[in-house]
Amino acid sequence: MTGASTDVSADASTDVVVEARNLQRTYDIRRGMFRAPAHLRAVGDISFRIERGRTLAVVGESGCGKSTLARMVALIEKPTAGQLTLVNADAVDTPQDRKRELRQAVQLVFQNPYGSLNPRKKISAVLEDPLAINTTLGKAERAARARDMLARVGLRPEYANRYPHMFSGGQRQRIAIARALMLSPRLLVADEPVSALDVSIQAQVLNLLADLQAELGLAYLFISHDLGVVRHIAHDVLVMYLGHAVEQGPKARIFARPLHPYTQALLASTPGLSSQRIVLKGELPSPLNPPTGCVFNTRCPHVAPRCREERPLLRMLDERQVACHFAEQFLEGAPVVRADVPMAATA
Ligand SMILES: Nc1ncnc2c1ncn2[C@@H]1O[C@H](COP(=O)(O)OP(=O)(O)O)[C@@H](O)[C@H]1O
Ligand SMILES: [Mg+2]
Repeated sequence: MTGASTDVSADASTDVVVEARNLQRTYDIRRGMFRAPAHLRAVGDISFRIERGRTLAVVGESGCGKSTLARMVALIEKPTAGQLTLVNADAVDTPQDRKRELRQAVQLVFQNPYGSLNPRKKISAVLEDPLAINTTLGKAERAARARDMLARVGLRPEYANRYPHMFSGGQRQRIAIARALMLSPRLLVADEPVSALDVSIQAQVLNLLADLQAELGLAYLFISHDLGVVRHIAHDVLVMYLGHAVEQGPKARIFARPLHPYTQALLASTPGLSSQRIVLKGELPSPLNPPTGCVFNTRCPHVAPRCREERPLLRMLDERQVACHFAEQFLEGAPVVRADVPMAATA
């Protein structure tokens, strides 16, 4: 769509837009002058793949590593370990000139569209600046494309002359989406893009994202803590807990029969999704001091001694991957309630 210098969009030999393999991100936290820094593992070991026209939703509580993952996939932050491939190119160890191209292939949309739009810039500048920096298009053509993009996201072209404060939250998020699309990316990373919006407006923005995806073949990495939202937009789901994937696979499988106790609890706490009610006790443990064994064991209603000793790895079961020692028993329908351990023991 923007032509010049966005030719990464033309070389797709497969439909896979992004692939992450064992992505990790650790932060070194200083603890005073004389102590060695502590290592905070924000993202443990995440792998996924998103194809053209598909949406992977990443869900989990605040602090589980969603935004860190988003920043790595959007090439804002380097992984500590692991591989990231974007439009068939290595996106971690890439020469600078190639990285510039890759940076156009992935764009980020944030939760707070007001914070991410410069209040002193007219919408025309917000939309045209990426073209001015990254393409050889002339002024008239840049303006034409900005107006065209406004129409695409459901706004009137004459809004180009206004400033961000003149718009509602939903309109501002449409503008942020328009800006993200100016360089014809292949992948949109959206970090809680509707969480700050009223429910009625949320649905409109989600519909817009779905329409744009159908029209442009975009891949989405969609971050949300809200399974009600995820239900509308996702094809695949990755459930994160304390930096780790505890369950991931097709949305339909996971929503129909969640096999990880954490997924079960998340679904049960989302209005309208489940008749079951599971209240998770306790707080999310500190990622500076994660539980041994299964990361979820301090809050799991089904915890057994094995869970405190042995970390369950992701394995394929019922067309999704799940990391729970007792997942087979959940699949058989018998809830594993252990009388020998206190329910939801807290750390
Ligand atoms: N730049 C950073 N430096 C140190 N710790 C960080 C940094 N960014 C995130 N963290 C920590 O990493 C963990 C995951 O954070 P984040 O990715 O923001 O989670 P989420 O988006 O799911 O709320 C948190 O414990 C957070 O405090
Ligand atoms: Mg976040």
